[in-house]
Amino acid sequence: MSVALATTSNSLSVFEAASPPAASIRDLFFLILFITAVIFLLTEGLIVYCIWRFRRKPETSPAEPPQIYGSNPIEVAWTIGPALVVFVLFLVMVRTVAAVRVREQPADALHVTVIGHQWWWEYEYYETSPSGEKRLLFRTANELHVPQNRAVALELKSADVIHSFWVPRLAGKVDVVPGHTNHLWFQVWEPGVYHGQCAEYCGDQHANMMLRVVVDPPGEFDAWLKNEQQPARDAPDVRVGRQLFASLACVECHTIRGTRAEGRFGPDLTHLMGRQTLIATTTPNNRDTLHRWVRNPHDLKPGAKMPSFQLSEGQLREMAAYLESLR
Ligand code: CUA
Repeated sequence: MSVALATTSNSLSVFEAASPPAASIRDLFFLILFITAVIFLLTEGLIVYCIWRFRRKPETSPAEPPQIYGSNPIEVAWTIGPALVVFVLFLVMVRTVAAVRVREQPADALHVTVIGHQWWWEYEYYETSPSGEKRLLFRTANELHVPQNRAVALELKSADVIHSFWVPRLAGKVDVVPGHTNHLWFQVWEPGVYHGQCAEYCGDQHANMMLRVVVDPPGEFDAWLKNEQQPARDAPDVRVGRQLFASLACVECHTIRGTRAEGRFGPDLTHLMGRQTLIATTTPNNRDTLHRWVRNPHDLKPGAKMPSFQLSEGQLREMAAYLESLR
């Protein structure tokens, strides 16, 4: 984890591509920029040249210059020329679309289903058997861990409205549509944290519907994967908080594996403290944030779907201590 955080950059720049699909899109951009820049310089240069070369001179004025109507060679040239340019742009665009769209994934690809919610991201990790059958391993939220240098195949779904999954340094923007599954793939060259964000207006907290892709070196990723598959563990000294959680409506919306909390509406909290951030990665994950969040989610995230349970300060402390024990 420390290695991954050391290389954190907040960059959302499509020019700092860190995965093949993003690099294909960046290269297409520069190629089109080059072609159009040449055309721009050529036409603007000709205009400036003609303005200067054929400007009104004292010895010719005020006579009207010769008036020319129609020229087959010129009209053919300026029809075929642009048509050829557009055809070349079309070919390179088709080549890029083929490179970024989902193709046959390598057998060792990591399969994750991304589910967009108002206003957070849910991730379901799957294991694929040699016969191609997928088995759900666990669910987590907002921080997507993937191994370095391994293909990642994402299935994108929505639980409510249209969102758009966009991690500019890794791949193009892909809409997350209710009732329809979209696909996306990337393979990240360097470990680190890659920032992303929902790119389709989806309600009150759209602007704060951020996400992170944490790219771990393979060994660290395996350790993370193993830990996430374990049921929740907590300490005896958080018993009061655990009972409080179990007695409230929390269990209807959240899952803590190994307890009676099996709700699916809100994020899975089984290994809550394995995440560096809360509130769609906008806020550091610590006891203070947990305390403030449970006291009144709307203070930190106006419009949030979670209500305030009007707990006492003592109850809030017990609850925060319990949540902070979920590692
Ligand atoms: Cu989700 Cu915008």
